[in-house]
Amino acid sequence: MTEDLINNKDIYFPSYLGSNDKLITLLNRASQTLCDWFSNSNKNGPLPFDENFKCIMPEKDGNSAEDLFSEIESLLNNSFNPVHPGSLAHLDPPPLVFSILGDLIAAGLNNNLLAYELSPSVTLLEESLCKWFAMKLGFKDSSGGIAASGGTLSNLNALIAARNNAGLGSNPNSVLLVSEDAHSSFIKCIRIMGLNDTNLVKIKTDNQGRMDINNLRKSLDKCLTENKKIFAIVATLGTTVRGAIDPIKEISDICKKRKIWLHIDGSIGGIFAVTSIPIEGLNNICQANSITINPQKIIGITKTSSLLLVSDINALKNAFSTGLPYISSIEDTTNRGELGIQGSRPAEVIKLWLGLRFLGLDGIEDILKSSIKRKEFFIENISKNKFEIYSGPLHIVSFLPKGLTTKDSDFWTQAKVNELMKNNFMLSRPKFKGKYYLRVVMGNYNTKYSHIEELLRFLETYQ
Ligand SMILES: Cc1ncc(COP(=O)(O)O)c(C=O)c1O
Repeated sequence: MTEDLINNKDIYFPSYLGSNDKLITLLNRASQTLCDWFSNSNKNGPLPFDENFKCIMPEKDGNSAEDLFSEIESLLNNSFNPVHPGSLAHLDPPPLVFSILGDLIAAGLNNNLLAYELSPSVTLLEESLCKWFAMKLGFKDSSGGIAASGGTLSNLNALIAARNNAGLGSNPNSVLLVSEDAHSSFIKCIRIMGLNDTNLVKIKTDNQGRMDINNLRKSLDKCLTENKKIFAIVATLGTTVRGAIDPIKEISDICKKRKIWLHIDGSIGGIFAVTSIPIEGLNNICQANSITINPQKIIGITKTSSLLLVSDINALKNAFSTGLPYISSIEDTTNRGELGIQGSRPAEVIKLWLGLRFLGLDGIEDILKSSIKRKEFFIENISKNKFEIYSGPLHIVSFLPKGLTTKDSDFWTQAKVNELMKNNFMLSRPKFKGKYYLRVVMGNYNTKYSHIEELLRFLETYQ
């Protein structure tokens, strides 16, 4: 059916005439292939990778559509499958159906969020959606935001704005304070900003994995005596290994008093703020200068989808605006390329917007509540006398049999990950406080209590 398509140069691009029947045929076939992959996931497991997977490179002649569809099938069959109910390793849930559609539309649109003239409707959409989120989080009218491809980049946008706001430029004495359990990408951010690892001050956490306020105060005083210039404190709203939430009210009081920029890394937990789910610290997030939210991590907006929201949009303009001499501008609309690090950017906000519109606030709440319930079910049913368990208010649990040495933790977790994978459960293996743990992330809506019971049986019996 699709065999002759490659010989016809018309299909290089969509046609501006007629009904694009050939493209429709290709898209239908692609939809069918993708949906077959979804429905076969139970057969293949969460990570059916075969080392012999062939990566064939482009040749002189283009390949036929048939060849390419067979390559696509092979690619899919050798991919991580987030739809499988045993996919519980990372913050990579199944894709929301309306986000899949959104990605397709964004690809076809091929608009560019660099500038209004290259993406008029999508520019307004991104601006409005950022504002909507910012207001939901409790920011005022001066607020706004910018999309980026992931939590790392949203955090980096915030830190650059914070340093600029503090007037520190490339001052080598500039420091950033984060908790010792903050995401590893803050080291990368610091390096990109021309600083080094010593410019990242790590604050100890308490026994719940939250930033220790006394240690924060001591570190702030130490920075002062050493003439270090603090450009921001980061509070994490959902740490990567155990889902802990830093004491946002106390940290924001300190930031206000000392006039320090507060950034909240809400990559994991920030999205809870648009629901009525009572999570500690959420009431106070509007005290921050900037917040990262990363809806790809729990509610299934397809990658990548991350937003940086700021209480004052001028902070982004001041840090990033250079003028775009080759682009026309219109009054009262900022070209989005002037608000962050990225220049050309796809219209990825469409999949966020469609995903959210499709779910509604009730749907978002349903997905988040169900994640927490699965986590609670897991914790209720795991043997507390056998395992040490680390988990905060969110949907992440790290655990390890009690009494293991560092070496044994390495051995046990590796063996366990392999055994579980053979039985179609994919868990991760973070290194945390010097030992390896198993981590389960309960963000997969396809995972039922019966799957969790099965997982627990493997954990308990294979010890
Ligand atoms: C708390 C936190 N912040 C930031 C990030 C980085 O996000 P990304 O991988 O989307 O850049 C992660 C990733 O898991 C995270 O858990």
